[in-house]
Amino acid sequence: MAESILIGGVWSGARSGGTIPVCDPADDVVIAEIADGAGEEAREAVTAAASAFSEWRRETARRRAVILRRVAELLRRDRERLAAVMTAEQGKPIAEARGEVDYSASFFEVAADLAPHCGGELVPAADPMRRILVRPEPVGVAAIVTPWNFPLAMVARKAAPALAVGCSVVVKPDERTPLSAIELARLAEEAGVPAGVFNLVTGEPVAIVEAWLDDPRVRAISFTGSTEVGRLLMRQASRHLARVSLELGGHAPFVVFADADFDRAVDAAIASKFRNAGQTCICANRFIVEASIADRFAEALAARSRELRCGRGRDAGVSTGPLIDDAAIAKVEAHVEDAVSRGGRLRCGGERLRLDGLADRFFAPTVLDGLDPSMRMWREETFGPVAAVARFESEAQAIALANDSEFGLAAYFFTRDASRLMRMAEALDYGIVGANDSLPSTAEAPFGGVKQSGFGREGGRWGFEEFSNLKYVSWKL
Ligand code: SIN
Repeated sequence: MAESILIGGVWSGARSGGTIPVCDPADDVVIAEIADGAGEEAREAVTAAASAFSEWRRETARRRAVILRRVAELLRRDRERLAAVMTAEQGKPIAEARGEVDYSASFFEVAADLAPHCGGELVPAADPMRRILVRPEPVGVAAIVTPWNFPLAMVARKAAPALAVGCSVVVKPDERTPLSAIELARLAEEAGVPAGVFNLVTGEPVAIVEAWLDDPRVRAISFTGSTEVGRLLMRQASRHLARVSLELGGHAPFVVFADADFDRAVDAAIASKFRNAGQTCICANRFIVEASIADRFAEALAARSRELRCGRGRDAGVSTGPLIDDAAIAKVEAHVEDAVSRGGRLRCGGERLRLDGLADRFFAPTVLDGLDPSMRMWREETFGPVAAVARFESEAQAIALANDSEFGLAAYFFTRDASRLMRMAEALDYGIVGANDSLPSTAEAPFGGVKQSGFGREGGRWGFEEFSNLKYVSWKL
């Protein structure tokens, strides 16, 4: 496994011989060693990608679609094995890992469906003796930098459209969870993606990503991760004006009106909040509930949260895995302490769990009542299994509270009033709005945020645009 770098169809270790251990976050057992690649490997990967690009872009879109569909089939064929790898490296429950394999396959399917239909268009010109032909062209080599929370799907969501439009890619997965991306690279080879079109460099991020953004041949970077790193990458990308697509942090409000279908809202809240132990950019963070039902709602959330079973993701019946590392659990703890010190009331949870034989990295599913804007968890993403409940009296106040965030990725609201439904959808300042829906992610929709959550869209035909340049041909008759 230390041969985890794929450049031009050849797997190798790091030139330095350096390796990084990959640990199961549930128990700290080392499950693999990966190559600690750096600038040299990163530059070689770009050379391989640049040379493969000239042929890949000339493949017919239909041929590229056949190969991408094959990648999806292979992902589905190996679903169980891939889910086990993902759970071991990331900690999420096995059922969620299976879902993520399916989700990943769906990005390749949608890309394969759309690729043959993304031609150009002939635009009527003002001059009757002129024709304007507009055609999308692949930008060239695209750098893909992905996070640890969705170690397979985030690579798929970026690589599938990039490959579909004819780009070649250099991929850098998070060093804590690189194994799913390595598996995907192997399946891409098996599916017939030509050598050099999909390259993978594992290792610590700084040297690799700097080398890519220092290289004028890299024409786009697509990144999912923190807002802080996103800003840094944007500055670095300005050197050669590489296109930038950033899917950054979120801090989703979840508004529940008294007229909502109560049980449905509770189910949706649990599904959104505790997905991946709360380590999801779009998971609900601030529950903003109409005052007349807030006690009942908070208590219903607490009752359901108490039923969630924490443990090793691979064990039957487990719904909440570990947090990814010690810093992550320390942050959750600090947010809860801060909220309690400012008057927040714990309805359940609120502390680390000591589970036999497992790492000290499990946080009890928590419901905290009395959330208010003075608390850290009102401003910052907790990224853990904590549902915090605030109250509102009017629709206008609900909107103001929901929009009171520098982030703008996803927002949710629950109501049965059809007019309010449209008013809320329009008023929420977010890239994704779930109207009576807390799990909006799907490969055919444009995933992405506004404000400090970044820009750029992933999914559907919009995902193609991030990796395409428009050329127009002005054609004189
Ligand atoms: C994310 O956390 O960024 C991904 C979540 C999703 O795709 O649903």
